[in-house]
Formats: sequence, structure tokens, C-alpha cells
Amino acid sequence: MFELHGLGRLVLARYEPFLRHWQSSRAGAWCPRLRELSQARLHAPRHGDWRVWMEQLAHLPVIEPAVRRFDAPCVGVEATPPLDASMRDQLRAGLLALHPWRKGPFCLHGVTIDAEWRSDWKWARVAAALGSLRDALVLDIGCGNGYYGYRALGAGARLVLGVDPGLRFVAQFLALNQMLRSDRLAVLPLADEDLSDLEAGVDLLLSMGVLYHRREPLRHLRILHRLLLPGGRLLLETLVLDTDEDAVLEPPGRYAQMRNVHAIPSLSRLHSWLHAVGFQQIEGVDLTPTTSAEQRRTDWMRFQSLADFLDPHDASRTCEGHPAPVRAMVLARRV
Ligand SMILES: C[S@@+](CC[C@H](N)C(=O)[O-])C[C@H]1O[C@@H](n2cnc3c(N)ncnc32)[C@H](O)[C@@H]1O
Repeated sequence: MFELHGLGRLVLARYEPFLRHWQSSRAGAWCPRLRELSQARLHAPRHGDWRVWMEQLAHLPVIEPAVRRFDAPCVGVEATPPLDASMRDQLRAGLLALHPWRKGPFCLHGVTIDAEWRSDWKWARVAAALGSLRDALVLDIGCGNGYYGYRALGAGARLVLGVDPGLRFVAQFLALNQMLRSDRLAVLPLADEDLSDLEAGVDLLLSMGVLYHRREPLRHLRILHRLLLPGGRLLLETLVLDTDEDAVLEPPGRYAQMRNVHAIPSLSRLHSWLHAVGFQQIEGVDLTPTTSAEQRRTDWMRFQSLADFLDPHDASRTCEGHPAPVRAMVLARRV
């Protein structure tokens, strides 16, 4: 058994190559805060399974990568020669111990992580909206296990800082990056509020699937605005109400079985919110209903998924009677 502080130190050491790159970026002044808060979270982790996950990590095989692919739908790595069957089984079992896998797919040395979400579909919409990411300094808030961060690197971004308070996602990132070996991406155990008083530093901000989880959506948007350099772009993706009206749904109980959905705006309300916190050049770039082809139960996410959360007699409604999930992507600029 590892002692927790020792464990925290080992994990923090893995972030150092990334943090050294970040230090020399335009957001270098963020580094002391990133280090200090990550250290605090990892020395006293709020999830009882953290120690178990870290032990799993220590048992994952260490394999020299020969080919890495961050620009393909299945973010992947291969070795030369390829892994033999018993090593592959060991890798698969170690990764499955970090179940549930929400975001993917990943193709790691012959093991395909078929995650709950086809995140490659969402990335295709993001990439079409963003165009070139060449040399961009990117912050992905609520990044999950880092899938989109790898894709952003594959699209030319210079550095991607992902933050997510969910420690399981952080553990998954550490496992993934043990295979994928990028020092240009990190997923740190932080939330939007942890960054709220930092100076502007990045030129692209991704906030996807986070807004409706925040009790104060305008506060989330204010934080995003503050963190962007002048001229920087926000790509915001969120559940919306598919209506021309100016409206917001504040579900009194659950929404599609989720307890933590606080506000689902119409596009017009979302536009007003973005405008109110100072964003300009606001444009809707995508509107996509979520289907159970994109979000579904798999061997890597064995709990209930979207199909179980919709009305069995009317797929246009959630099981609580709300409109079924539709997601919008909006681009906005800080000028
Ligand atoms: C629906 S998931 C979206 C994940 C990913 N961005 C995507 O689009 O697939 C929401 C994520 O936001 C994270 N999250 C929740 N509260 C947050 C906060 N205050 N700041 C940053 N991330 C948060 C959750 O841990 C979760 O990973």
C-alpha cells in the first residue's frame, strides 16, 4: 500500500514536464496555482477509491510507444513489436478496473476502449466549427479523461490544459497518458472556480457539457470570459431547449435521471447570457439531438445510459417528461 502523500507526490511528478511547458507559455503565471491546488487535491483525495486506482496504475504495463495517433477518431498507440496476448489481457484488465469509461474511443496496443460516448462524433463537430488549432494554447474546462485534449493536439494545438474535479477522470487520464505519453496535455483535478481569479491566458477555451451542471451558469461564463486572452475564442457546448422562445428549463427534480442539471437555456437565452458577460461575435455552429447511437451502454460503461433515461413510449421526452437532450455548440469571442 502506498502512503497517500507519497502517492500524491508520485502523481504530481508526472505533471511536471507539462507544467514546465505551461510555465513558458503566455499563461505561465498560472503555474503556482495549478501546482498548489493539484497538490492539495491529490494529498487529500475526496474519492475513497483513489488509492485503489493508483495501485492499478502502478500495475499497468510500461510500453515504449512506436506510433501514436491523436488525429484519428480512435486516439491510439502501438508498439513494435505489438503486445503479446497475455500483456494485452493485463492491460485490458487494468483499464477495466477504472470503469466506467465515459469518453473515448481509445485504441491502446490492441485494446479498444469503447466508451459510453462516441466522443469522436462530438469532436468532428468541434473541429468543423473551429478550423485550424495551429499553435493554440487551449484550456478545456470539465474535460473528462482528456479525449478532446488529445484530439486538439492532433489538430495542431501547442498545449492543452484540461481540468476536471472528477478524480476518476484524472485517474483515467493518468492511465491513458502512461500509454500515450504526451507532455503537451494534462488533466488536473480542478474546477472552474479554482481558476476564477487567474489572469487571462489562453486563446481557445472549451467548455462542453458543463454549463447546465452549474448552479450559477452566468458565473461559469464570467470565469470563462476572464480566462481568455483578448481575441480568444470560446467554444461552448451545452444542452439547450430547441425553441425560438427566450426560455430556460430549471428541472425541479432530475433531468434524464441526472440530479445535477440546474438550467437548460434556449439558444436565445444562451446568447443573452454570453452577451451579458462580455462575449461578442456569438454564433451558433451546431445543434444536434443526442441519440442512443452516440451515448450508449458498452462493455466499458456497464451502467444505464441514454436509452434508459428516455420515455420508452416517446423518445422525444426524457423519462421525467422533459424535452429529450439536444446539444448546441456556440462560438464566441472575447474582444
Ligand atoms: C457531461 S460531462 C462533459 C465532459 C466533456 N467535456 C464532454 O463534453 O464530453 C461534465 C464534466 O464536467 C465536470 N465538472 C462538473 N463540475 C465542474 C466544474 N465546476 N468545473 C469544471 N468541471 C466540472 C464533470 O466532472 C464532468 O467530467
